[in-house]
Amino acid sequence: TFSPRIFSGIQPSGGLTLGNYLGALKRFVDKQNEGIETIYCLVDMHAITVWQDPAALRHQTREMAAGFIAAGIDPARSILFNQSQVTAHAELAWIFNCVARMGWMGRMTQWKDKAGKNSENASLGLFAYPALMAADILAYKATHVPVGEDQKQHLELTRDIAAKFNNDFKVNFFPITEPVIEGAGTRVMSLRDGSKKMSKSDPSDQSRINLTDDADTIAAKIRKAKTDPEPLPDTVEALKDRPEARNLVNIYAALAGSSPEAVVTEFAGAQFGSFKPKLADLAVAVLSPITAEMSRLMQDPAEIDRIIGQGAARADAIARPIVDQVYDIVGM
Ligand code: ADP
Ligand code: NA
Repeated sequence: TFSPRIFSGIQPSGGLTLGNYLGALKRFVDKQNEGIETIYCLVDMHAITVWQDPAALRHQTREMAAGFIAAGIDPARSILFNQSQVTAHAELAWIFNCVARMGWMGRMTQWKDKAGKNSENASLGLFAYPALMAADILAYKATHVPVGEDQKQHLELTRDIAAKFNNDFKVNFFPITEPVIEGAGTRVMSLRDGSKKMSKSDPSDQSRINLTDDADTIAAKIRKAKTDPEPLPDTVEALKDRPEARNLVNIYAALAGSSPEAVVTEFAGAQFGSFKPKLADLAVAVLSPITAEMSRLMQDPAEIDRIIGQGAARADAIARPIVDQVYDIVGM
């Protein structure tokens, strides 16, 4: 009863990383090119759950829009817009704040990680983050959400909220959205610590590759990436307890559009000293055209604003009637 529709978003809380690219953006482009209806959002309201300098937020939002377009998102085929420009997100988030339970939110590992021991001092928005995310998705009745591994638990919560809403109000209004977590790039780890995901909000710039890094910076970061002294094995299973080595193999596979199996078959027995320059060359070959196109687009910020403004109008046209129906269902 729900026609296929894809929604996903990225926070403009910093620049795009290789993790965002392989785990999200590259896959957003693939979905667009498969001809499914695709809606992609710069989630600035999520970004402010932790402090953002206003001028930096504005710049990062534009730069992220440029990154989406440079990576292959076509604003004519996908809807690309900024979350705060479509009020349906905040409106539906409030309704979902009243559907979701405190206990559900308190179990989110991202909340526990980000709030840490000092949760008394975290923003209320950070705690409620997954209800806003559910609103982002369900304001469009999206059926599928391509995300990285780290978002799996939040997607489960979106499903719980949809099911509880449908059940509380005796309707079949929201779809039970499917996460789409596929391929070698859905869990890119920090280059400095194989137990942490690569993130734009990691304090160490050496931990990540940014889409704005130049070729020398990318090569240097990969050369310095943490590994172990063993050569590459000939099976993926043998990487099980070697998180840093496994990460570099996964990154290579995701960049090449191949699989970790194919990469270990090709490089079995090679030392990381010889593998890393090949990985750096591949990363530069994939990323440098995107970097160049991003900086070209950033020379005309008014054009970027125009594109995301048009996207917002198209997003609003879908979400507004859905949220109006929600008010009606709730008795408002
Ligand atoms: P960040 O942690 O960089 O701020 P976001 O929370 O904005 O990223 O996530 C945006 C999208 O990018 C999500 O789909 C998320 O799963 C994906 N993503 C973020 N980091 C990684 C990573 N290290 N590996 C794979 N996907 C990632
Ligand atoms: Na994040």
